[in-house]
Amino acid sequence: MMPVLSAQALSVIRSGQEVLKDVSFSIAQGEVHALLGGNGAGKSTTLLTFLGFLQPVSGSVHVQGRDVNENPSAARQAIAYLPEAATLYGHLSAYENLRYFLSLAGTDTGRDELDAALDRVALQPEARNIRMQTYSKGMRQKVAIALAILRDTPILLLDEPTSGLDPVAIDEFNRLARDLAEAGRTILLVTHDVYGACHVADRIDLLQNGVLVGAFDRPPGMDRIDTEAVHAAFAQYAAGGP
Ligand SMILES: Nc1ncnc2c1ncn2[C@@H]1O[C@H](COP(=O)(O)OP(=O)(O)O)[C@@H](O)[C@H]1O
Ligand SMILES: [Mg+2]
Repeated sequence: MMPVLSAQALSVIRSGQEVLKDVSFSIAQGEVHALLGGNGAGKSTTLLTFLGFLQPVSGSVHVQGRDVNENPSAARQAIAYLPEAATLYGHLSAYENLRYFLSLAGTDTGRDELDAALDRVALQPEARNIRMQTYSKGMRQKVAIALAILRDTPILLLDEPTSGLDPVAIDEFNRLARDLAEAGRTILLVTHDVYGACHVADRIDLLQNGVLVGAFDRPPGMDRIDTEAVHAAFAQYAAGGP
């Protein structure tokens, strides 16, 4: 089957520096794929390239079999993107933010659907009509995740989706992502959180200084990838080895 997302020998230069070097991976429909790496590894750059906001100097990225460079708007229509610092309006409530951003995306969404998405991210009902400037970081992140889900696109690109979430909310997010994948959505998320990546992903690619240095698959029949093995590899590469 044709992969939904693929990078082929992808290299990207930013400010004169090669920040992605010969990166290749592919993601099938219904998979959760995690790109794991430290600060500056090139995780966010990878997502921006899939959205067509950055161009490869060599290699390519494909979305649903189409070269993003040739048709970035087709790629963007198939993707809901959660940016690293999601910008929602503090003077608007969760409902108002969701309605506003969904209308910009050309989606008309009823109150019941908004509530269903906010239930899925476990944002307490009494907060939903309150201005978001009173929210905690975790509550804001929940609304941003709800917005990505409500776009109802086949593909989700999520940049550090669990940042600001407490451990209980992280577990809930992991279950939600797995449910979405089982329902047929394809998810590429980037994170520096080894534990979270191991619990949510079918496959983890380890990115270090723009280079893929390791890959870990969830063994058949297991509910997670081995955290110790991934942590050891992460720590080894972060220390400059092998
Ligand atoms: N706006 C930018 N302009 C130029 N270089 C950037 C920009 N943003 C990030 N970079 C550089 O690209 C590299 C990868 O960054 P990034 O993809 O944001 O890493 P990560 O998301 O893994 O922390 C880093 O060396 C960073 O300094
Ligand atoms: Mg980043």
